[in-house]
Amino acid sequence: MEIQEARKRLDSSARVAVLTGAGISAESGVPTFRGAGGLWEGFRPEELATPEAYARDPEKVWRWYAARYRQVMQAEPNPAHRMLAQLERAKGDGFLLVTQNVDGLHLRAGSRRVVELHGSLTRARCERCGHRQPLPPPDAFEPPPLCERCGGRMRPDVVWFGEFLDAELLARAERAFMTAEVALVIGTSAVVEPAASLGRIAKSAGAYLIEVNPEPTPLTPLADLSLRAGAAHGLGRLLPDDAGTREEAE
Ligand code: APR
Repeated sequence: MEIQEARKRLDSSARVAVLTGAGISAESGVPTFRGAGGLWEGFRPEELATPEAYARDPEKVWRWYAARYRQVMQAEPNPAHRMLAQLERAKGDGFLLVTQNVDGLHLRAGSRRVVELHGSLTRARCERCGHRQPLPPPDAFEPPPLCERCGGRMRPDVVWFGEFLDAELLARAERAFMTAEVALVIGTSAVVEPAASLGRIAKSAGAYLIEVNPEPTPLTPLADLSLRAGAAHGLGRLLPDDAGTREEAE
């Protein structure tokens, strides 16, 4: 049975690469971008998550990002985030978690071998010197943050539509998927490049490809196993039971 095979592969493989999208945080109450029940209070991400929107009206863009920052800081990692942190502990150096999410929940769940391809709502980047620093706690945060190094105005440290991803982070992500024995793609619509290609890169390099998503995606036909399930439930079926993670997932 496919799921037994997938469990065996995950258990025995030394090199596992994971890609997550907004779906893994849906169960923490952080809405997805393209799913039902749109996210943005009357905003459209494409109108706000762009350098042009920021240049036109930085205060408005910061109001939106500050609201998202407060929202994700009220959310908690869910069992799916915790199970991936546990999988990292089991696999060690052979493990890499690449996330498109900017909510910081993987890090708060204990994951450390993480590439945040699209940046993070919890950090700002100086427009003048490029210095990055964490945002203050939500209740003490008044945008825009000023650079602790040069005093310049800082922007959200996220990748906007039309911007390039950090080349080093992308190269690290691609290397992990090119050398993975198992690639695990969870909670992404697999339509936004370059992240959407990572599963295909792994598959063409010979990896065993597993997808966890309640809906089919463009990646589904390529997957060795595509589990029609939510992230926590799907991972609960794929990973060995482990204290403190699985029971909540059932
Ligand atoms: N568990 C797993 N997957 C889920 C769940 C769940 N509980 N609920 C929804 N999903 C799936 C949806 O079926 C969908 O395929 O999560 C996916 C969410 O897709 P998107 O909203 O497109 O999010 P994502 O794929 O992460 O978007 C990629 O697009 O807007 C940009 O930069 C933004 O990082 C984002 C990128």
